[in-house]
Amino acid sequence: MAAVLWSNHGYEDQSKLTTNIHERAVGYYTLHFAGLFNLPFPLRFAFGNGVSQIMLELAAHILDIAENSVRAGARLIEIDIEEDTAKNTLSIKIIDDGQGMKQEEIEKVLDPFYTTKTVRRVGLGLPLLADASQRSGGSLQLESEKGKGTTVKATFGLSHVDRQPMGNIVSTLIILIAGNSDVDFFYKYRHNDRQFKLDTREIRKEIMDVPINHPEILKYIRGVLEEGFSEIKPEA
Ligand SMILES: Nc1ncnc2c1ncn2[C@@H]1O[C@H](COP(=O)(O)OP(=O)(O)O)[C@@H](O)[C@H]1O
Ligand SMILES: [Mg+2]
Repeated sequence: MAAVLWSNHGYEDQSKLTTNIHERAVGYYTLHFAGLFNLPFPLRFAFGNGVSQIMLELAAHILDIAENSVRAGARLIEIDIEEDTAKNTLSIKIIDDGQGMKQEEIEKVLDPFYTTKTVRRVGLGLPLLADASQRSGGSLQLESEKGKGTTVKATFGLSHVDRQPMGNIVSTLIILIAGNSDVDFFYKYRHNDRQFKLDTREIRKEIMDVPINHPEILKYIRGVLEEGFSEIKPEA
């Protein structure tokens, strides 16, 4: 299994890589935001809002990383969030069974200038998530194997002042399920010793022929998620 650890606490050459990528990411934004001023006002407004949402909430990062998994042809995407107050850590893991990446791709994707899409969205999913985790004293780990799948794991300092808030994780999951009705999602949220799970494979068994993105089913799933959250009382 090919793996890259992109971390502040990593080897010396890795931290050099991190700084370098960060500087280039800042350069990228400066370049692209300069271009925004030529846009008509309403468009500039919409675009600007989208960018700040992507950068300010963990739920938006999760959406972007899970969308990568969808594009990679995943049939099952596991989203695993764990909060540990004693260790003061928050970890977010996204595991997929999609097409995976070769070692050289893994190295390139942490570079903000790289994409396989012809037009790079402002998302910059992986570099932005790496940056967000490092700002809170954490790190990003990317493991992938061609033909097998990909695991993205980001850790954060739970109570770190620069740790981004979770944001609306329930709506994020609903968007993912509603927009990708042929993909299964296994969602786990643990807060210390309390945890809840939601598995669309289980839900599918119960609803039989009703599509998972039927409005009533989505409403039911939203209810289950909201109840799960209120029971475990997460901090993020
Ligand atoms: N889960 C994944 N499986 C396979 N390839 C991936 C996965 N996540 C990311 N990639 C590859 O890494 C590239 C960069 O991802 P990302 O940083 O989110 O930027 P973008 O999605 O805008 O291209 C993707 O275009 C894709 O080629
Ligand atoms: Mg992406």
